[in-house]
Amino acid sequence: MSTAPDLTQTTAPAVTTPGFDDVLAAAARIAPHAHCTPVLRSRSLDALAGCELHFKAEHLQRVGAFKFRGACNAVWSLAEADAARGVVTHSSGNHGAALALAARTRGIPCHVVVPDNAVAAKVAAIGAYGATLHYCAPTIAAREAACAKVQAETGAELVHPYTDPRVIAGQGTAALELLGRDGGFDALVTPLGGGGLLGGSAITAAAMSAGTRVFGAEPTGAADAFQSLQRGERVTELVPDTICDGLRGLLGAPNFALLRQHRVEVLLADDAATMQALQLFWQRTKQLIEPSSAIALAAVLGNRERFAGQRVGVILSGGNVDLEALGKWFARG
Ligand SMILES: Cc1ncc(COP(=O)(O)O)c(C=O)c1O
Repeated sequence: MSTAPDLTQTTAPAVTTPGFDDVLAAAARIAPHAHCTPVLRSRSLDALAGCELHFKAEHLQRVGAFKFRGACNAVWSLAEADAARGVVTHSSGNHGAALALAARTRGIPCHVVVPDNAVAAKVAAIGAYGATLHYCAPTIAAREAACAKVQAETGAELVHPYTDPRVIAGQGTAALELLGRDGGFDALVTPLGGGGLLGGSAITAAAMSAGTRVFGAEPTGAADAFQSLQRGERVTELVPDTICDGLRGLLGAPNFALLRQHRVEVLLADDAATMQALQLFWQRTKQLIEPSSAIALAAVLGNRERFAGQRVGVILSGGNVDLEALGKWFARG
């Protein structure tokens, strides 16, 4: 890991970012617990996209998302005495479930702070993996205050969903498997929320396959990373509005530094394009991916000329479909 001045900001303090050694260490650490997910191909999608698509199927990962990789690495990185005090996070989505399951693999307590308006099915899943739930008002300030209270009371270690270097390194292991198995990619595309998956993937691609260009796929209604890279400073005020519930997090400071360092490009897709890609993927492959995954395919389809004739790796980040939200979307036509 390296602590470097954050050259991307004039006033911000140094940020800590992981390196490729940390990704390799994470891969070894999580190997007994995480699945090595398959890579899927579809001739008809290749024909439609005009390129060769290799889909890394993280919707088939434990808890149904790549999030288990980072959470598992964080949990198994802890020294024995720290681990015994447990872990805490605030998340009503895939990271909460991932941290709960990772903690269970180590037999340690896990606390998850959830907003009291969170989707009931997702909260139930976090509870089912054995986490203690702490409800709070649906604001960032309330979530952070509730986390701090749990930390003060229990000594639990905070595991942030995308800025924690252990999490970023863990997320980089999906690209490690993909690039290690099938080399020679011209491009690698991943969904982009807070930038843990994209940051980890960029570290891995730079070390393993310098000729591979790395792209993040971000919703038009949550384009803070796109704007941040354009402006050269992190946009922190945007209020996300997108059906991609996993992509509503704002780009983190270490994630921003990694994206700039590795010259990552962000491609935007609106929700309509993402839902078209989702339907297409469901129909052609019979695989249940969520909108936050489908956006990566939407970004490729929306930028055919960029990828024409190329070999493209796509990380399908998860498959935890919010059927209620999707039902409403399809009902609206
Ligand atoms: C399915 C899915 N895809 C992508 C993301 C975005 O990941 P990151 O915040 O690391 O960019 C998330 C985050 O929750 C997610 O659940």
